[in-house]
Amino acid sequence: MAYIQKRGISPAMVKNFGLGAAPDTWDSLRNAMHEKGFTDNELFDAGLVKRGKQGGFYDAFRNRLMFPVIDVRGNVIGFSGRILGDGEPKYLNSPETLVFNKSRNLFALNLAKKSKSGYIILSEGNIDVVSLHQAGFDSAVASLGTSLTPEQARLISRYTNEVIIAYDNDGAGLKASQRAIGIMEKLDIKVRVLRMSGAKDPDEYIKTKGPEAFRKLLEGSENQMDYRLRAIREKYDLSVTEQKSDYLREAVELLARLPDEVRRQVYAMDLARELGLPPDVIVNDVERRRDRLVKSTFRQTQKQQTQPEKQLQPPSRELRYDDPASAAAEEGIIRLLYLEPSLISTPGLPPPEEFSAPALGRIYDALRKRIEKGQSVSTDHLAGELTGDELGLLVAILQKPETLSRSRQSIADYIAKINEQKQLRSGGTDLMALRDQLKKKKGYEG
Ligand code: GTP
Ligand code: MN
Repeated sequence: MAYIQKRGISPAMVKNFGLGAAPDTWDSLRNAMHEKGFTDNELFDAGLVKRGKQGGFYDAFRNRLMFPVIDVRGNVIGFSGRILGDGEPKYLNSPETLVFNKSRNLFALNLAKKSKSGYIILSEGNIDVVSLHQAGFDSAVASLGTSLTPEQARLISRYTNEVIIAYDNDGAGLKASQRAIGIMEKLDIKVRVLRMSGAKDPDEYIKTKGPEAFRKLLEGSENQMDYRLRAIREKYDLSVTEQKSDYLREAVELLARLPDEVRRQVYAMDLARELGLPPDVIVNDVERRRDRLVKSTFRQTQKQQTQPEKQLQPPSRELRYDDPASAAAEEGIIRLLYLEPSLISTPGLPPPEEFSAPALGRIYDALRKRIEKGQSVSTDHLAGELTGDELGLLVAILQKPETLSRSRQSIADYIAKINEQKQLRSGGTDLMALRDQLKKKKGYEG
């Protein structure tokens, strides 16, 4: 309570976030949970106790302010603990468990999703989030100690199409913002970046300047194009002619990527004004650059469509796919099971030996075994069961995009594709059966 008071957190927020404390002992939680009938193994699986060298168990969280991590359905799935006072590590998060996956959840999204503000504020620290909510900004969330992941961005996009980034005001924060912008842009989320000056993070900003100042900041936060242009401008000294033309070149390159013609022109005219150049020259410049860009993107897509196999091959040459079309579907199954282990119950999942690529069969087998035993999966867990090349392949597979919203349908499609390819490979293809299968897959009759 003393620490909470010292950080200026109100009783209402303690309740709202379900804040608590882990005392500075080795067995408080363990004893309390034993009394409630939980076993050490259950506590271990939940990441609440650790196993000592002698085989005994001890509390994982000690001497910490505890933040429950609550998913959007309202279940407590893990914890973040901040050390009370100084010490290392400053934050401790629950390990990945059956229910807790850091890269797929956001701190406080359970609260933020109810906000009427229409946007989500993305900050770095748990304390920042609490502080923001306390000041009335009830749509603040934070990623759980990692930089924003594509899965988290997808989760956000279910609730809003506008995000305001309020990361720490330092080099790391700036870098993380740029990464996050890239990820969210792909999902058509409108991103603005907050510029805090004179404070290192939202918590400090609100404490020193007050909620009203923060609100003004929010209203004036830059859109991503302004933000990026400014980031480019800051690299150059515009009083030096050579640097001025470098700035111009880079800015034109950026503007050429804007899909909207009117916006391209407005920005081009601003740029011309800034540099004291004739507007139509810059506008033409941007349009010419755009033309070239569109043409080369078109050529690239064509190339990809005519030689898709190349793209599909795994990073290690040793593991080349003989049947890239089937392998793509096999990769899809691995990706979906990793992200959504409950899909293991999907009927018709082929056994590993039916995978066309042996390496994918082995990855799938390792994944399946863990899931069937009720164990959680992460690349760390699987590392022991896979070769270095296979692990590298798994990481590459997980980096490819996957839509989770219709995962049941996707996995069924992948299974169908694998069966279809298997029949094609077997040579003696029963064309009638194949045709029926295709029809079923596409969902039309006759
Ligand atoms: P205060 O310094 O108390 O204001 O905390 P803060 O919540 O603002 O945290 P900070 O800006 O230092 O860090 C931002 C976020 O990064 C935290 O909320 C954590 O999620 C994460 N983080 C910081 N330090 C650590 C650490 O030592 N280990 C881990 N796993 N995560 C950390
Ligand atoms: Mn902080």
